[in-house]
Amino acid sequence: MIFVKYLRFTKIVAAIAIFFSLITIWVMAIWSLSLDNYEAPQIISFLGRFHPLILHLPIGLMALAIILDILRVLPKSWGLILPKSTWLHVLTTLTATLAVIHGILLFISGGYDGSALAEKHLIGACVFTSIIGITAILMLLVSWVESKNFLGLITTFIAFITLSIASHDGASLTHGEKYLSQYAPNFLKPILEPGYEEEEESEVDVDVPIEDKNIYTNVIEPIFERTCMECHKESKSKGKLRMDAYELLLVGGNEGPSLVPHSIEDSLIIQRINLPLEDDEHMPPEGKPQNTSQEIAILEWWISIGAPVDGSLQSHQPPAQILSFIKGSGDEVVQIVEEPKEKKQEVDIIKLNELVQNFNQNHPGQLAIMSKNSDALIYTSFSDPQDINDNTLKALSVFGPQLQDVSLSQSKITNQGLIDLLKVAPHIKALSLNNCAIGDQVTDELLSLKQLESLNLYGTEITDKSVRKILSIETLNSLYLANTNTSKELVREMLEKKIPLRVFY
Ligand code: HEC
Repeated sequence: MIFVKYLRFTKIVAAIAIFFSLITIWVMAIWSLSLDNYEAPQIISFLGRFHPLILHLPIGLMALAIILDILRVLPKSWGLILPKSTWLHVLTTLTATLAVIHGILLFISGGYDGSALAEKHLIGACVFTSIIGITAILMLLVSWVESKNFLGLITTFIAFITLSIASHDGASLTHGEKYLSQYAPNFLKPILEPGYEEEEESEVDVDVPIEDKNIYTNVIEPIFERTCMECHKESKSKGKLRMDAYELLLVGGNEGPSLVPHSIEDSLIIQRINLPLEDDEHMPPEGKPQNTSQEIAILEWWISIGAPVDGSLQSHQPPAQILSFIKGSGDEVVQIVEEPKEKKQEVDIIKLNELVQNFNQNHPGQLAIMSKNSDALIYTSFSDPQDINDNTLKALSVFGPQLQDVSLSQSKITNQGLIDLLKVAPHIKALSLNNCAIGDQVTDELLSLKQLESLNLYGTEITDKSVRKILSIETLNSLYLANTNTSKELVREMLEKKIPLRVFY
């Protein structure tokens, strides 16, 4: 008698626990879906990682519940005596709740916000848990429901279907949407892979020169595909921006239109790409494959002529420089820019030669390979310094890691242009900035040149403050300071300290 009393009490407690579990997951789910750009603390990321482990518990328990329910609806005459599935339902709900909570932690810490697939998976899992949970509550509290085995079987079956969909979404999130369908027979592919379209291999296309291909789908869109669409597409639209269709670029995201034809300044995509890498709003975010300066030039040109979608590349008359960027934007260029910190890129010298010649078509005689067997480059502005400006430096930055000797004498570069170049050119040994409008702003970048031997600052606006810092570059052996804002005191100071450095003042 006491046992029956306790059982009733335990059942009520279990029902209440389930009730609150369901409330918790729905509140958490709705909260997590409303977050935008949430920076999760480390502990949340840590706990979220347990999701793949925990989720197997409810799946196993539910499988047991289904088997039990099926066996229990078999005719009595078979003589099977089996317990009811009530407590399996309870355990399934509680473990599913745990899996959902960890899943939500993973969701908010794993950069899934904006991912439609992740949101569907989350809602699916909550629906599944609720179906099982409500069934469990009814079984616990209403003995009529508990005694009708087929009721349990029906709801468990519905829950099973929900779970299958939710799990498939989850698996697609982890392994990619094509994981299940990749090796599936063709007739199953459309069912297993959302948005599946039979790929039409158009072999004819291969021989068509790029000039005759469509300007948008063959020139511009591939750039977006490579660096943007991972986060800006249908299934994952960060900042509510989708870049997988032209019209959607015009619509834009949270901050309004991302593309404004004819206006580079107003086009958010270019603004974001051109922000300094360490800026939080820089696109693509730090650590992701970046755009090359050539790609940026191509995009800017495209926007400046009105961002056309129709017509061949040729019909829009790209300038020779842009055309050479479009043709030459091979993998090598991309590689150099992506990993500027690598010591010495193993760049194929022949390819490098080609790239240098490409560059020189627009900047005659300015760039040269130092010797046959090295990839070190010399750049000089001697031929026409007045034409050299930040855009030249931008184009030059593709060769960043290879630059060893750089002379920008009398050119029209600015502090910011130089800063951007030096960031990607850590191996410069000789740098001449004479008569450039350069000031103390570039000091930090100069200090990052760990192999710098000769620095010419003649005629710049550099001051004592900056020079005192520059003296800490250990490899430096000559420094030209005449005609700068530095003082005689500083030079005297340096002479007194007997620094092993030739100073020209
Ligand atoms: C790794 C993911 C990722 C990649 C790759 C990425 N973005 Fe973003 N993007 C985001 C996130 C997250 C936001 C929302 C936060 C913000 O506004 O900075 C965003 C926002 C934006 C916005 C602002 C949209 C608005 O209206 O609020 C623009 C424009 C943008 N990205 C452009 C680009 C471009 C262009 C590229 C490719 C060159 C790119 N993004 C690549 C993650 C990414």
